[in-house]
Amino acid sequence: MRGRFITFEGVDGAGKSSHLAPFVARVREAGHEVVLSREPGGTALAESLREILLAQAMPELTELLLMFAARADHLHAVIEPALARGAWVVCDRFTDSTLAYQGSGRGMDITFIELLAARVHGHHNPDRTYLFDLDAASAQARRAQARTADRFEQEALDFFDRVRAGYHAIARREPQRFCVVDAAQSFDQVEANVVADFQHWYQSLPEAGR
Ligand code: TYD
Repeated sequence: MRGRFITFEGVDGAGKSSHLAPFVARVREAGHEVVLSREPGGTALAESLREILLAQAMPELTELLLMFAARADHLHAVIEPALARGAWVVCDRFTDSTLAYQGSGRGMDITFIELLAARVHGHHNPDRTYLFDLDAASAQARRAQARTADRFEQEALDFFDRVRAGYHAIARREPQRFCVVDAAQSFDQVEANVVADFQHWYQSLPEAGR
């Protein structure tokens, strides 16, 4: 039985990453092997690409292709083998980030991004995606508490408005895959929302898939 693929998404500063560890612990408690990973990254090659992507200015097409180059390596070396052996994969960002950031944020052609996605991972879309939803100004205020800002985090408010709108558009198109969590709530409230959704979704899986 293949494992399940779960992704966390949201604008920088929405707080998604802090919810990863408790989430993974919960899935492990349910009796599954879990591989926790992130994008861009997850393999030695993809982590090298991540360093370049977060630090170095580049044309938007280069940025888009490097995101998918990292993703292709990650899928091949980590995600696919894990799912195939029945492990669950929990990933901090995936292709929805590319649609939201490079597509809606940068204004690149969504159809072209979807074409690349189809070529790189075909039907291997996440089974469930948690979107930590926060307005651009609140996210910026949270990011301001961190000491350093990478190349994406330095983008202006209107960029993150577009990224957020991009996420909303995907979530509207695929309501069965998405759980949208109001990330303006306290950490504990957000956590409670994620847990409640996960339990409900997990119970809905055919028994063989749990
Ligand atoms: P993230 O790991 O959330 O950053 P941090 O380490 O600061 O928490 O993500 C790295 C950045 O990469 C983030 O700003 C979003 C961006 N990104 C894209 O623009 N497109 C993509 O396809 C992915 C996966 C990430």
